[in-house]
Amino acid sequence: MNDKRHYRFALISDIHIDRENGGKNIYFIYAERNLRRALRVIKSRGCDFIVSAGDQVTNASGADEEWRLYRSIIDSSGYTGRIYEALGNHETRSAEYGINTLGECISDFISCTRLDDKAVIRKADKPYYIMTEPVFGDVFIFMALENGVSTNSIDNFSDEQTDDTEAAVERYTAQNRRIFIIQHANIYAYGAGDDASSPAYEGALRIADKDGRVFKNNLRFKNLIEKYREIIWLSGHTHVDLADNLNYSDNGSRSCHMLHIPALCGATRVISDGSGGHKLDRGFYDSSSQGYIVDVYSDRTVFTGIDFISDTLLSEYTYIINKKK
Ligand SMILES: [Fe+2]
Ligand SMILES: [Fe+2]
Repeated sequence: MNDKRHYRFALISDIHIDRENGGKNIYFIYAERNLRRALRVIKSRGCDFIVSAGDQVTNASGADEEWRLYRSIIDSSGYTGRIYEALGNHETRSAEYGINTLGECISDFISCTRLDDKAVIRKADKPYYIMTEPVFGDVFIFMALENGVSTNSIDNFSDEQTDDTEAAVERYTAQNRRIFIIQHANIYAYGAGDDASSPAYEGALRIADKDGRVFKNNLRFKNLIEKYREIIWLSGHTHVDLADNLNYSDNGSRSCHMLHIPALCGATRVISDGSGGHKLDRGFYDSSSQGYIVDVYSDRTVFTGIDFISDTLLSEYTYIINKKK
């Protein structure tokens, strides 16, 4: 075991800044407070950067005010490192209601996340991009749910994004680089973030529609993570609490490593639906705000759960992923 840490980052998801109707209908009531607290904790714990796995904003009635608030919380936090965000389903939600177009939502995401060409490799106007850790060369592929908010009933990725992702994974695997994929939505009845044998969450990405018609690029994504099992795929979306013990899976070594990140705005719990299945308890609790502190070494990546409210590492939720030599 080599014990000199290469770098440390904070891993969060589902911040959900919420200013619906100018703040009259706030659903994610702790979002703003929890982001402020998390940034304080992340700064004090010496993280080199932050990865945020999507749903930074809620966007039920347009996201302008939410993006402004998001930026102002970060800018006034004292945290000066970079934040790399993935595009989740909520970033494009107002397009579903005809308030904005999909293109407007995507361009807001690109401008408000402020990642310029020096920080990432991105094609013009695309919400997906690649970041390379500058010292050790680990690769972070940020995918985007670019086709809209209805995650469970569409093909979520363009041909171009899927082609680019496959090519990048092939190229960096050949170079024996460590690869993280940040892709917001879990796959229904599969992997981390929910009970795969009895899912509680209907909003997950599907491989086929109700009539069995395959969503081609969703399937290509699933095939990719089954072919390249050294990938570490980081998702959010179900918001599930670390205490539910559903946040890591590799499908019994039949897929890549899949790690789910609980919602920073307050985690959900998987509970019984009273008829043999599961549902999500979406109640908000003052003390719930979780993520991970991630320590990267030459031979392993260590994800340690963290409670941002009490600033406590949750060592019982530690996931160690060894790197193949
Ligand atoms: Fe979310
Ligand atoms: Fe989501």
